[in-house]
Amino acid sequence: MMSHDLIVIGTGPGGYVCAIRAAQLGMKVAVIEKRATHGGTCLNVGCIPSKALLHATELLAESKHGFARMGLTADTKVDFGQMLKFKQEVVESNTKGIDFLFKKNKIDVIRGSATIIGAGKVKVGDTVHEAKNIVIATGSESSKLKGVEVDEKTIVSSTGALVLEKIPASLTVIGAGVIGLELGSVYQRLGSKVTVVEYLDRILPGMDAEVAKAFQRLLEKQGFVFKLSSKVMGAETSAAGVTLSVEPAAGGAAEKIISDVVLLAVGRAANTEGLGAKEAGIVLDARGRVEVNEDFATSVPGIYAIGDVIRGPMLAHKAEDEGIAVAELLAGQAGHVNYGVIPGVVYTSPEVASVGKTEEELKQAGIEYKSGKFLFLANGRAKANQTTDGFVKILADAKTDKVLGCHIVGAQAGEMIHEVAVLMEFGGSAEDLARTCHAHPTLSEAVKEAAMAVDGRAIHS
Ligand code: NAI
Repeated sequence: MMSHDLIVIGTGPGGYVCAIRAAQLGMKVAVIEKRATHGGTCLNVGCIPSKALLHATELLAESKHGFARMGLTADTKVDFGQMLKFKQEVVESNTKGIDFLFKKNKIDVIRGSATIIGAGKVKVGDTVHEAKNIVIATGSESSKLKGVEVDEKTIVSSTGALVLEKIPASLTVIGAGVIGLELGSVYQRLGSKVTVVEYLDRILPGMDAEVAKAFQRLLEKQGFVFKLSSKVMGAETSAAGVTLSVEPAAGGAAEKIISDVVLLAVGRAANTEGLGAKEAGIVLDARGRVEVNEDFATSVPGIYAIGDVIRGPMLAHKAEDEGIAVAELLAGQAGHVNYGVIPGVVYTSPEVASVGKTEEELKQAGIEYKSGKFLFLANGRAKANQTTDGFVKILADAKTDKVLGCHIVGAQAGEMIHEVAVLMEFGGSAEDLARTCHAHPTLSEAVKEAAMAVDGRAIHS
């Protein structure tokens, strides 16, 4: 007899949301988790703890650099141990929240490592659990780099960077992606000298290039040092710290970079270890991700996969939406994820946020577009908040005016991006956005002005 309608493997944002939605739809659901707490990488050692540290250090930076002009004096001192304690409290309150939600939705929790042994069968320890359907939501793990051995003390992944024993005097980050720039910002604000080594000739690959360029300049003003078009050949740890050997990506003489701590942040890889996927007949793609069709079905009937372990951006909110979609599909409903409208946010200061197509993607696709840009320098609220860095850029179809993308660098960009995401879900135009009344004085007025700028009629520029 089947013990459950659905077993979800992994309780990160994809898995736990999927389990709850399935339970809401009347399924008898069990989850399997090998960590002591639910929430996966995101809640335990990713999005949530990094945001706690980013928030605390942003206040620190503001007290140091923004207060005097407003007539304020603050003698801000850093108690790093207490800051890490605060971060851990935030993590625990979130992970406990999932325990509560599982109980509320009568979801059974099975502790341990899951191995799929065939359609509808999952083994944990010596026990085989059976279900009509299985959803794999095992997430991802930090990618490795040859010659750079992570010990989580002096050469750390994002996990080790959240529990350093002390603030390093110098930190070298390998990889100018989201993790490198967010955690790099935390330590830069805490006083570390931060150097970022990036293989490509730009930071944040995949983001709009104009936004990335402007963002790089702002980070450099804060003290970041970027070594672009550079490849790390190896790392040596000694009493003096870590010595990285770095060469120009195109080849040439190597240089040495010595720092107290190195953060390796060169991407993440699908986590299928120990899952028994291949043995169960589940097809993986060339990058080791579980291959799925548009309904998240794997090559084995009744086994589905969502989140970082499948194709697409490795983002918690993408995994959540896939979790909801697959639960609804299993219940006979029309679950769906619109991959064209998935926002991406870098939670630095200023923030970077993006939805839809970049200019580079539109050019490559040969789509004719109009662009409207508005600087926060001309926004009243930004002046009052001392957050005049950055801009909003809206890209709209040249013929139909339909909004195709929005890219923001600026304070609270990660909140502002959502009005454009909603507009895009409804197939709205720049004109629709321009004609929507925006409260004054708000930073969001810059979004409206950028929409007006698409038609060359922004008021304040
Ligand atoms: P990433 O893919 O964002 O960036 C990795 C960077 O490392 C790239 O710029 C790449 O060109 C560079 N790189 C790769 N190999 C290199 C090498 N050998 N030497 C120097 N540079 C090299 O990966 P990241 O930052 O590790 O993040 C992993 C995943 O987690 C991403 O998919 C990201 O979207 C997600 N994430 C999202 C966050 C958010 O939404 N705010 C926060 C943190 C992570």
